[in-house]
Formats: sequence, C-alpha cells, structure tokens
Amino acid sequence: MDERRWRERAGSFGAAADVYERSRPAYPVEAVRWLLPTGAQRVLDLGAGTGKLTAVLLDLGLDVVAVEPSEQMRAYVPARAQALAGTAEQVPLPDASVDAVLVGQAFHWFDRGPALAEMARVLRPGGTVGVLWNVRDESAEWVRALGALVGSGLQDSYVLDPAPGLSEPERQDFSYQQSLDADQLVDLVASRSALLTMPEDERVALLQRIRGLAPAEEPFVLPYRTEAWRAVRV
Ligand SMILES: C[S@@+](CC[C@H](N)C(=O)[O-])C[C@H]1O[C@@H](n2cnc3c(N)ncnc32)[C@H](O)[C@@H]1O
Repeated sequence: MDERRWRERAGSFGAAADVYERSRPAYPVEAVRWLLPTGAQRVLDLGAGTGKLTAVLLDLGLDVVAVEPSEQMRAYVPARAQALAGTAEQVPLPDASVDAVLVGQAFHWFDRGPALAEMARVLRPGGTVGVLWNVRDESAEWVRALGALVGSGLQDSYVLDPAPGLSEPERQDFSYQQSLDADQLVDLVASRSALLTMPEDERVALLQRIRGLAPAEEPFVLPYRTEAWRAVRV
C-alpha cells in the first residue's frame, strides 16, 4: 500500500465511530492479563479507538489512559478512563510514567520506529509493551467465505518488531468468540478502513453479499484467534 493510501485508511475510522463501537469485538481477558507485568496499576491504551481494550483494562481494576488521534472515536472511550488526544509517534505522557503500553488492532497503523521509541520512553523499567490482534478463525465454511470477500487485511504486518530498550518479543495465541446478529456482521465489515475508503456503489454491493453469508440462526458466533505479542522494557 502506498503512503498516501495508508494515511487515508489509518485516518478513516472516526467517520464511522458509532458503527465501530456497536460491531467490533473486544479482547479475551486472559490475553490481556498475559500482556501485563505483575503489579500493574497505570496502563496506556495506545490507538484506543472507542475504548474496546480500555474497557477490558478497566474491568481488571487498572487506572487507564487512552490515547487516540480521532476525536469522534475518543468520544466513546469510557468515562472511567482518562482520554487524551495524541498519536503513537508523539505520546502526550512523561517518561517512565506507565506500567504497560497496550495496543489493540492498531499497531499496524503506526510508524513503527518512532512509535516503539515512544512506547519505550513512557514505560518504567520492567514495564511491558503488549500488542494484540483479533484474526478471524476460518475453520467454519461461512467464515472462510467471509474472508474470501473481505480479504485477510494487513495480517502480514501483525508482528511486534524488536526495538531498542525492549526485550525480544514473544508471541502467544488465544481463542475468542464474538456473538453477533446479521446487522452487526454487516457493521463489522462496514467499519473496516478498506470499506470506509471504498467508492459507495462498491461498498453497498459488498455489504449486501456479506449479509447473505450470515448464519440464519441469531445470535451466531464469529470465532477469532487473538494473536498477542509482548516485550519488556529493559
Ligand atoms: C482498528 S482501530 C482499533 C481501535 C481500538 N484499539 C480497538 O481495539 O478497537 C485503529 C485505531 O488506531 C488509530 N490510529 C491510527 N493511526 C494512529 C497513530 N499513528 N497513533 C495512534 N492511533 C492511531 C485510529 O484512529 C483508530 O482508532
């Protein structure tokens, strides 16, 4: 993807923040626990969107700062978190001020070198970087058909790179399930950056085909493999 298209897609989410909030999955709590250091208290959710990961962190009793560039997305972040305007490349927090920096489904949109330097800067020694992605599990026929229509997205870039100041990244996978109805499945696809930046006639035609794939019995389950990566601030 060229630089202009990448920026267009990275900045597209706010236009459909409501659709995003009502259709996107959260994250398995055991994956989130695996990403946190022992005794974590104050945690940064970077590229927080509408706060899907923020909500999981709040439910674990953590003090959460959510940094997100889009004002429309940030408006949905739960009020119990501190929501700040900012980007991964310029995090509006002091040095060594958080125990963990977590990133849900957003690391592939960051400019990785500057973002990893910022993540290392705001972490205290022994703190963790944790990034995670929900990837559709295509063992069911209808999910394979869904994948054939919408593509595998940017999965090749779903990796935490080694970086100065951080230990060698480790990966662990977790299972996750999202319960949906047909309207939510259509919204889930409609909230993807590729659709948000697609010509309207193509978008409408694709969403009609997606609706045709939804299992008849509602609610149905969309299975995921959650790919989690962590590294420790040395
Ligand atoms: C697919 S959403 C993920 C949102 C949320 N973390 C979640 O788990 O649902 C990607 C988010 O990354 C944000 N984003 C894009 N580029 C960014 C950057 N350079 N720094 C921080 N956030 C960015 C977008 O505005 C969007 O909210």
